[in-house]
Amino acid sequence: MARSAILNVMVQAAMKAGRSLARDFGEVQNLQVSLKGPGDYVSQADKKAEEIVYTELRRARPDYSFLMEESGVVEGSDSQHRWLVDPLDGTTNFLHGIPIFAVSIALERQGQIVAGVIFNPAMDELYTAERGGGAFLNDRRLRVSGRSKLVDSVIGTGVPHLGRGDHGNYLLQMRNVMAEVSGIRRMGAAALDLAYVAAGRLDGFWEEGLSPWDIGAGIIMIREAGGFVTNLDGEQDVIESKVIVAGNEAIQRALLKTLKKPV
Ligand code: IPD
Ligand code: CA
Ligand code: CA
Repeated sequence: MARSAILNVMVQAAMKAGRSLARDFGEVQNLQVSLKGPGDYVSQADKKAEEIVYTELRRARPDYSFLMEESGVVEGSDSQHRWLVDPLDGTTNFLHGIPIFAVSIALERQGQIVAGVIFNPAMDELYTAERGGGAFLNDRRLRVSGRSKLVDSVIGTGVPHLGRGDHGNYLLQMRNVMAEVSGIRRMGAAALDLAYVAAGRLDGFWEEGLSPWDIGAGIIMIREAGGFVTNLDGEQDVIESKVIVAGNEAIQRALLKTLKKPV
């Protein structure tokens, strides 16, 4: 598998930040039992990972712009190119010692996502995709699942919680979906949820209220693996969407229909 120069830069940045997170994750497990807990430590680990990604990407492409979860917007002189960076997706998992978290980096060119990298250092899983070049897990080419019926499908989701999301609306969606599928998973890291759809582990996924840095890399991963990603109205432009619905062609379509079923 040949990677372009820019994808290599993204991979280096994600792996360097991921290794830093992995070291800090070891410490979090020790702090878990302390009175103060690991909260502050995790937020430092998060910021450190973002600093690493920023430094690596900036060095390679000094002019590009950034949208980062922790530091926000950094306008570069090249506004056609923008990095979307989530240095630690799955913070709550990380904080609780659950090894499901990732670094997620996407590159936009003129508003289109052209490359994505998602790295889970705890499992040593590196997901990469470039427009027109396919999606990969380490060196293996990815393909979305071949299941065509909801009844056979495992669907991922993000469950709103205290202070987040529209609980009433979500319960209606969940009621519809749970009645029709063979399983539902809440993994706790949206970037990895989308990577799992690309890898055919999850047959579909939906979540409300995600941000561009959560989904940028995952969107291209799924599309390059032959899958579909839209908002609740079936529109392709999802980066600023409130709800994202993903899956292989049949499951994505069925999931859209099920989510909107009147109750
Ligand atoms: C969160 C995770 C989670 C999703 C939340 C996100 P963070 O990102 O992706 O799975 O349900 O909506 O905010 O805060 O861990 O980077
Ligand atoms: Ca996130
Ligand atoms: Ca984050």
